Amino acid sequence: MSIDPALTVDLAPRPRLRIPTHLGVIMDGNGRWAKARGKMRTEGHIEGVKALRNLVEFCINYGVPYVTVFSFSSENWTRPKDEISFIFNLLRRFVASDLQRLIRNNVRVRIIGSRSGLEPSLVRLIDDVEAKTVGNTGLVLVVAFNYGGKAEIVDAARELAREVAAGRLTPDDITEERIAASLYTAGLPDPDLIIRTSGEQRISNFLLWQAAYAEFVFLDENWPDFNEASFIKVLETYALRDRRFGGIEAKRP
Ligand code: IPE
Ligand code: IPE
Ligand code: MG
Repeated sequence: MSIDPALTVDLAPRPRLRIPTHLGVIMDGNGRWAKARGKMRTEGHIEGVKALRNLVEFCINYGVPYVTVFSFSSENWTRPKDEISFIFNLLRRFVASDLQRLIRNNVRVRIIGSRSGLEPSLVRLIDDVEAKTVGNTGLVLVVAFNYGGKAEIVDAARELAREVAAGRLTPDDITEERIAASLYTAGLPDPDLIIRTSGEQRISNFLLWQAAYAEFVFLDENWPDFNEASFIKVLETYALRDRRFGGIEAKRP
């Protein structure tokens, strides 16, 4: 990664940390963060963006190659209209304020989720961010926006069914690899570690297929309170996990 070496954290004095190849983050608790302070939920989302900006910096500095953040789920459409449009505008503002910095830091951005249901101008913006960072070779920042794991699997199933109907594939050609290659996350490694803030211990339709062997770490703090100490705690907790993948021996990647 061609980032400023002064930013990079020396991991040698930190043997208790393990760096996942792909970190998934369910950024939850913005509303509760705001409520606890007598503020509007929208203020929690604004603070949440600051925590996201910090997370990207930690991933770069600690050498996490891939990070996927859950920023709007396909089920979040059930929220009040005002909150939805606020979140959508925050995405636009984030792109306006942060795209140049992301490019400077060699970050490649990928946005996963359904494009249908999004305004054409937002789809253009998303396409533009992906196009402008496609040549970057550093951190891959995957933003799950209008994303739902079940909908993703349905989309993949439909695509494969069309291939079979057209005679280009037979049912036996449908393998785990082919399904993985038909998901929005095609080409990305599965997440090794998924974290969720706010004390909730559920997956809420995030990366269902890809999370088959992910480790989970749940933090009690709300997303706007996530900081470098939280990040370090997560990596220390992950380092203590034995991953067996169905076998009998622990694998420590
Ligand atoms: C996470 O915070 C952000 C989104 C889901 C968009 P929430 O908005 O879910 O905050 P809580 O869970 O209500 O506190
Ligand atoms: C999950 O959080 C989605 C995001 C963080 C974007 P939610 O707040 O929507 O999840 P539930 O409804 O508590 O399960
Ligand atoms: Mg929530």
